[in-house]
Amino acid sequence: MPAKIIAVMSPKGGVGKTTVAVNLAAALASIGKRVLIVDANLDTPHVAIYYGFIGYKNSLEDVLNGNIQVDEAVYKTENQNLHILPSRVFKNKGDGNAQYKIINLFHHLGKVVDDYDFLILDSKPSSNLDFIKLIKNPSTLIVSMPEIASMIEAKKLNEESVAAGVRVLGIVLNRVNKKISGHMNDAEVSRIVEAKNIWKIPEDANVFDALRKGIPIVWQNQKSPASRSFLELARDIASWG
Ligand SMILES: Nc1ncnc2c1ncn2[C@@H]1O[C@H](COP(=O)(O)OP(=O)(O)OP(=O)(O)O)[C@@H](O)[C@H]1O
Ligand SMILES: [Mg+2]
Repeated sequence: MPAKIIAVMSPKGGVGKTTVAVNLAAALASIGKRVLIVDANLDTPHVAIYYGFIGYKNSLEDVLNGNIQVDEAVYKTENQNLHILPSRVFKNKGDGNAQYKIINLFHHLGKVVDDYDFLILDSKPSSNLDFIKLIKNPSTLIVSMPEIASMIEAKKLNEESVAAGVRVLGIVLNRVNKKISGHMNDAEVSRIVEAKNIWKIPEDANVFDALRKGIPIVWQNQKSPASRSFLELARDIASWG
């Protein structure tokens, strides 16, 4: 069976897309799913950094530019179930052209889609669905913080996705912190956005610590509040039919 493909998206920057994508992929791998995480954020690609993975030679830019085959830019990680297709943090000459070829992403990924249970795509802040509309049965996870601007953008993306025939698995509310008065409560969130599932990831200082060490928090500290929530998210996604 071909991999289920999930694009982790949000129109707002800095809300936690990469943190969610990296930990979801790591958690799925740790419960036995074969996962490829793809850094489709060519502007500010941080997936490799979040895994502490540096010094790779080939990247998604080389694949999109037609210089190599996709499997030549897929790397193993410390978990045998998780592979990574990184983008280049410090760009080489010609890498900029790859940006215009992102639309061909699924043409390239088609060659490896049968090797995995899940393809998790990190993305740049955008509500542009063009790059995932081309796949069969596309799905998104929309990441938002529990504050008004981020929620409004999540609502818009949710509605645009549904209109475009893209399945929204749900909203991931990240950095939930009851002590911050500006953060919305459950009732306020539900009033703004109608979603099938809403998962909550708490604000957790351990996330920064994990990032500093280059190890996803779900591997580094399984008992931390954010890890527990990421593992719950992964179990729900893993059971998705
Ligand atoms: N639940 C959390 N608790 C604490 N810190 C968090 C949490 N989630 C994310 N962060 C921190 O927030 C910052 C932004 O997260 P991240 O890089 O995942 O956002 P992003 O949406 O991918 O950003 P960009 O739009 O630039 O791609 C990072 O420093 C990350 O460590
Ligand atoms: Mg990011």
